[in-house]
Amino acid sequence: MCRDMTGPKAFVVGWPIAHSRSPLIHGTWLKQLGLPGSYEKIAVPPEDFPAFVAGLRAAGFAGGNVTIPHKQTAAALCGKLTATAQRLGAVNTLWFEGDVLVGDNTDGAGFLGALDQEAPDWDKRRRDLAIVLGAGGAARAVADALLTRGFGRLIIANRTLDRADALVRQIRDARCEASGFLGAQAALPRADLLVNTTSAGMLGQPPLDFAVDDLPEHAVVDDIVYVPRVTPLLRAASARGLRTVGGLGMLLHQAAPGFEHWFGMRPKVTPELRAIVEADIAGERR
Ligand code: ATR
Repeated sequence: MCRDMTGPKAFVVGWPIAHSRSPLIHGTWLKQLGLPGSYEKIAVPPEDFPAFVAGLRAAGFAGGNVTIPHKQTAAALCGKLTATAQRLGAVNTLWFEGDVLVGDNTDGAGFLGALDQEAPDWDKRRRDLAIVLGAGGAARAVADALLTRGFGRLIIANRTLDRADALVRQIRDARCEASGFLGAQAALPRADLLVNTTSAGMLGQPPLDFAVDDLPEHAVVDDIVYVPRVTPLLRAASARGLRTVGGLGMLLHQAAPGFEHWFGMRPKVTPELRAIVEADIAGERR
């Protein structure tokens, strides 16, 4: 680990990066745990990203987070990848082992961490079928996490069927099948979990056009969107009495492994941290 008087240095890199909550999350943990260290956001355009990564060691960084649009390039530039990062072909967390740059993708672990914390035993009763809406990078991480957790069957449903087909081909797991939204609607009565990974329902976007009426009573509905905290999808699920999980927990849980690598302690996702980040989001919307 890279230490000087001020402690290890970490970063989040993206393009753009202005709205990243990561500095607030890691800054809060550093303060709460009384650890020395710093975490800064750095805007780097795609053409400069390889040089940025090549200069990390010399700049004294212990590691950092990577966000859009650099996650795939970062995976290609790492000396070593975790098994998850290899499967996903994208990394969001970097650290050094000696001089070797290591990359992991913690989005799926963050997704599971939020479900475990906010809907305890969500996967204990049945995990026969999960329906994942969307076919982008987030859908890929969520699908990978659910397959790792042992779901028997996964439907990846997308507005554009071709993209769902392409994602299923990439995942290469016989438990996984592609569908349009109509097919997903028809499968709802047998689903144990419904996850929205699309951007629909996000602040400034149209709501997701997907009814939850046919889900069984034990089903959990998870929306990885976190602004607003309660999306129209989650509101409809709550109105039916279903258990719901929003996206903020995933954002907080995906950050924890990196913090441990750079600063040496595993941080906790507490109600206090959640309140601090929620207040920041509310402040920005005001
Ligand atoms: P990610 O951020 O996960 O990488 P992305 O590549 O930006 O995602 O893709 C956004 C996802 O949201 C896609 O699955 C997109 O569906 P299409 O492939 O059909 O475009 C989905 N999406 C965006 N707006 C949507 C809407 N209004 N209704 C349904 N799906 C929507």
